[in-house]
Amino acid sequence: MIELYRVCKEYDNGQVALKDVSLHIPMGQMVFLIGESGAGKSTLLKILYKAEQFSSGRVLIGRVDISRLADYSQLRRRIGLIFQDYRLLNHLNVFDNVAYILRAQGASEKEIRYRVEGALNVVGLLDRSKEMPQHLSGGERQRVGIARAIVINPPVLLADEPTGNLDPVNSLKIFQLFKEINEKLKMTMLIATHDPRVHQLKKRIIQLSVADRQIVMDTEPSNLPMFGSLLL
Ligand SMILES: Nc1ncnc2c1ncn2[C@@H]1O[C@H](COP(=O)(O)OP(=O)(O)OP(=O)(O)O)[C@@H](O)[C@H]1O
Ligand SMILES: [Mg+2]
Repeated sequence: MIELYRVCKEYDNGQVALKDVSLHIPMGQMVFLIGESGAGKSTLLKILYKAEQFSSGRVLIGRVDISRLADYSQLRRRIGLIFQDYRLLNHLNVFDNVAYILRAQGASEKEIRYRVEGALNVVGLLDRSKEMPQHLSGGERQRVGIARAIVINPPVLLADEPTGNLDPVNSLKIFQLFKEINEKLKMTMLIATHDPRVHQLKKRIIQLSVADRQIVMDTEPSNLPMFGSLLL
């Protein structure tokens, strides 16, 4: 579902963020992307949702070569995005935040209600749909962010430090929610995080290194021989 072939990224100021990164995430897999600050996690995600161009290599999402697409607007139906700072619209209540993209796409009010209530139910916030974002806790705001990302049922979810502003208890709850969504809705997920407890979740973990600008660890068994060969 997500394929990178020898992707390099050099920013305009000459800073190399990714060097020859190859990666394959099959459909329905949930993957954590870890690594020190500056290792290139956000850069990799931004390349996938077309907030940054890559310098060389090839990137496919659902077999579509994304270099052929102009910007994220052409990926909106395929990729749901979740950010550390939630990025909710503070003048809209919970329901309307989640409904926003459906309204923009011209969905009927009946469909909007059905889908928004379904998404809010998944994240456990159906009873807070009239609340304004400022009246919610950080964990609840992120749940709204997740509902907004899944409401159009995109095949891919990308999250950049989704628990970066949350305490340890809420962070773990959010990771559990991602796991439930992955199991129920079968979305392919790539989640960048600093949280070392992702090891407890028994999902694939890919580590980028700030020294190498490359993948230095991939827990997926099929990739272990490649990793092993680096040690020879
Ligand atoms: N717009 C930019 N222009 C120039 N260099 C950049 C830009 N954005 C990121 N970089 C550099 O690219 C490298 C990777 O940055 P990136 O933000 O992808 O790291 P990260 O792994 O997400 O770090 P963090 O954990 O702190 O979020 C860093 O050296 C950073 O300084
Ligand atoms: Mg980052």
